[in-house]
Amino acid sequence: MQGVQSYIDTHKDRFLEELFSLLRIPSVSANPDFREDVFEAAEFVADRLRDAGADQVEVCPTDGYPVVYGEKIIDPDAPTVLVYGHYDVQPADPYDLWHSPPFEPTIKDGKIYARGACDDKGQMYMHIKAFELMMQTQQLPCNIKFMIEGEEEVGSANLATYIENNRQRLKADVVLISDTSMIANDIPSIDVGLRGLSYLEVEVTGPNRDLHSGVYGGAVANPINALCQMIASLHDSNRHITIPGFYDRVQELSTSDRHLLNQAPFDEQAYMDDLGVGGLLGEKGYTTAERTGTRPTLDVNGIWGGYTGEGSKTVLPSKAYAKISMRLVPNQTSEEITMLFQKHFEQIAPQGIKVEVRPHHGGEPVVTPTDSPAYLAAAEAMTVTFGKAPIPTRGGGSIPIVALFERVLGLKSVLMGFGLDSDALHSPNEHYGLFNFYKGIETIPWFFHYFSQNTR
Ligand code: BES
Ligand code: MN
Ligand code: MN
Repeated sequence: MQGVQSYIDTHKDRFLEELFSLLRIPSVSANPDFREDVFEAAEFVADRLRDAGADQVEVCPTDGYPVVYGEKIIDPDAPTVLVYGHYDVQPADPYDLWHSPPFEPTIKDGKIYARGACDDKGQMYMHIKAFELMMQTQQLPCNIKFMIEGEEEVGSANLATYIENNRQRLKADVVLISDTSMIANDIPSIDVGLRGLSYLEVEVTGPNRDLHSGVYGGAVANPINALCQMIASLHDSNRHITIPGFYDRVQELSTSDRHLLNQAPFDEQAYMDDLGVGGLLGEKGYTTAERTGTRPTLDVNGIWGGYTGEGSKTVLPSKAYAKISMRLVPNQTSEEITMLFQKHFEQIAPQGIKVEVRPHHGGEPVVTPTDSPAYLAAAEAMTVTFGKAPIPTRGGGSIPIVALFERVLGLKSVLMGFGLDSDALHSPNEHYGLFNFYKGIETIPWFFHYFSQNTR
């Protein structure tokens, strides 16, 4: 690889301008109000792929938002890298907590502030620019295919069908993804695992209508009180989850794997300071790295019901709701865990309370190899550009399609992410460092270089 840095230096302002244009499109997949914008983002990505030199570029319709495909085949016999990313973003709510508008990208202290800056527009766009760089400097060493989707943040429900119907087109040797984090800008790392997810909503019903809380209070079950109690009972005093069978398939790590995982540098004080908390809370007997990377969890994501407007209203509500997610680890499956939750939650409902559990979406956990030519290529690439070998880590988040790449296409993934956990993904003031954006563009060509060398 030659002239990587000088190409970036020459074109860095344009790279950033282009990313800003993408960040200005509010492609929120969860909210139908933004439907047109999500389609516009797909077209934008397709146009930039064409500009960069991709062939067969297509905005492929699905039952949901489209998949953007593009490729450059230099030699049918050469190895092929499938690059995956997503152009949709999480809702920006609550807007009033943003210091600058979420869809007007702004640079502050060397960071790009915008919804999607890191997750995943900024990281995905690095791949299009690295591809442009390899094309323009005539150094693309193997075949490349892009599959950029628009429904990752809502569970990738239509992507399974897309990959099943496009097995031939998506044929590759490995999937390369930048949609995860590193430990720090001077401590490169590569995620070698992702948690799965079971996401559901519960509706708890008490009386058939809202009641006067004085006239009936004390005699009739209050669904909000009941829901809180039921939720509280899902953890014991050691922060273990109490759903029967929940841990049955959980793979305990070997002592040496645990040791390795805990060797990754972790500054607990800095972690707490960043979050503004005075202490950490999690499952007894496990470190923070283990709790987020290798242990299953259960969290309430939202809870509502009754009167929440101005002032007060004395009401004993008829209904209460919560959105609940469980993060899963090998070998739990989202289907079984959803079923166990449902059974248990219905069972613990007190008298006079009806429970309905509505599953949303799921995703399966994955562990990726550290001895494959592709992982080694990523490690070598980061070693060149960071001057340090990356540390393998386990990511706590989920990317549902990764398990399906394995199951449907037989493809392993490399999770070469350049974000930081502190980039405020899904939160107000999401940001992405300029350092990280350009470092990614610099590192990716080296991945291709080593990957084609390692597979020759
Ligand atoms: N990029 C994240 C996942 C991630 C972030 C993994 C940081 C590891 C480190 C992805 O966009 C995401 O947010 N996924 C969702 C999946 C869900 C909506 C199905 C998640 O993890 O909540
Ligand atoms: Mn993402
Ligand atoms: Mn996300």
